[in-house]
Amino acid sequence: MTDPLLETRNVTKHFPLSRSLTQYFGGEARLAIHAIDGVSVQVHRGETLGLIGESGSGKTTLGWLMARLHTATSGELLFEGRDVSRLHGRALRKWRQNLQVVFQDPVGSLDPRQRVWQIVSEPIQAQQRLSRGKLRALVAELLPSVGLPPDCLDQYPHEFSGGGRQRLSLARALSLQPKLVILDEPTSALDVAVQAQILNRLVTLQRESGYSYVLITHNVAAVRYVADRVAVLYLGKVAEVGPVRSVLEHPVHPYTKALLAAVPVADAGRRRTRYQIKGEIPTLIRPPPGCRFAARCPFVIERCRVEEPLLLPVTAANDHVVACHRSAEVGDIPPESLLATVPPPAASA
Ligand SMILES: Nc1ncnc2c1ncn2[C@@H]1O[C@H](COP(=O)(O)OP(=O)(O)O)[C@@H](O)[C@H]1O
Ligand SMILES: [Mg+2]
Repeated sequence: MTDPLLETRNVTKHFPLSRSLTQYFGGEARLAIHAIDGVSVQVHRGETLGLIGESGSGKTTLGWLMARLHTATSGELLFEGRDVSRLHGRALRKWRQNLQVVFQDPVGSLDPRQRVWQIVSEPIQAQQRLSRGKLRALVAELLPSVGLPPDCLDQYPHEFSGGGRQRLSLARALSLQPKLVILDEPTSALDVAVQAQILNRLVTLQRESGYSYVLITHNVAAVRYVADRVAVLYLGKVAEVGPVRSVLEHPVHPYTKALLAAVPVADAGRRRTRYQIKGEIPTLIRPPPGCRFAARCPFVIERCRVEEPLLLPVTAANDHVVACHRSAEVGDIPPESLLATVPPPAASA
């Protein structure tokens, strides 16, 4: 396989707590939220890497680190083999042309006072000075590729539906023909039919233009449909990575098994029972040593609490790796044993 397009090497992101919060938690030295801790993942050219995990597992933080919207506390970010973790100023702006981020909330990320042509051409304008006529022509050419009519140039975001606004965000992200697009929950705010249209569009665009995607989502069906490989994050660490089919059909890490089992199946729309993974999520302020899932794992042994598991291959092809001391033994456990039911009206996310 060729060099990855983007690679994180042992990347860490800690958000320091304020002095007063540090005191509240009884800390002496300044405490921090360990949002991402030692993550190494690769994105290859033309592929989609899915990033899944419960809310708070660090997906967005990792996406922001990849786009250099955050600077890592430690570790490296390589793009086409070059270390870009410490770029700043003009060099950072220039490098950013390679990559764009699409956020979950198409309302918050679009300026309501700007017209379509202004919004979509914003990344172009940040890089070069072009006449208004030229910008409008470029945008008119771009809109059909995301399924919008070319004659909506002078409309405002509020004139579009949720799906329409997300198409606008997508057009804006693609306006500079980036090599990589980081999609952070791009369809979570949309209804199911519109989600499918947007995902289809993403797949088509990738086939036509060779974009690489990082698809951050808690929607396992979307990952199954769009992604080539998937990384499972738990509390700032990678629990399991591999080809989508291998990870989703044969998950090995007890956390991945639980996460997949907790997903309501497609035809279960009417089923009232909801599931969640048993046990409490430990704090990211003083993350446990050893395996971060130890406190919730039914297979826990003493070693899990003291020694951090490394990511090791579980297939002969070496492309499916898992960080679990007991990966060879967990086998075919009924995933229900990892889950507790949530009474209907009670807990909601
Ligand atoms: N800017 C920030 N300042 C402090 N804590 C943050 C910040 N961004 C994220 N976090 C914390 O980092 C952890 C991971 O968050 P996030 O990356 O948003 O997870 P996810 O996208 O998987 O839900 C959470 O505990 C969150 O509260
Ligand atoms: Mg997020």
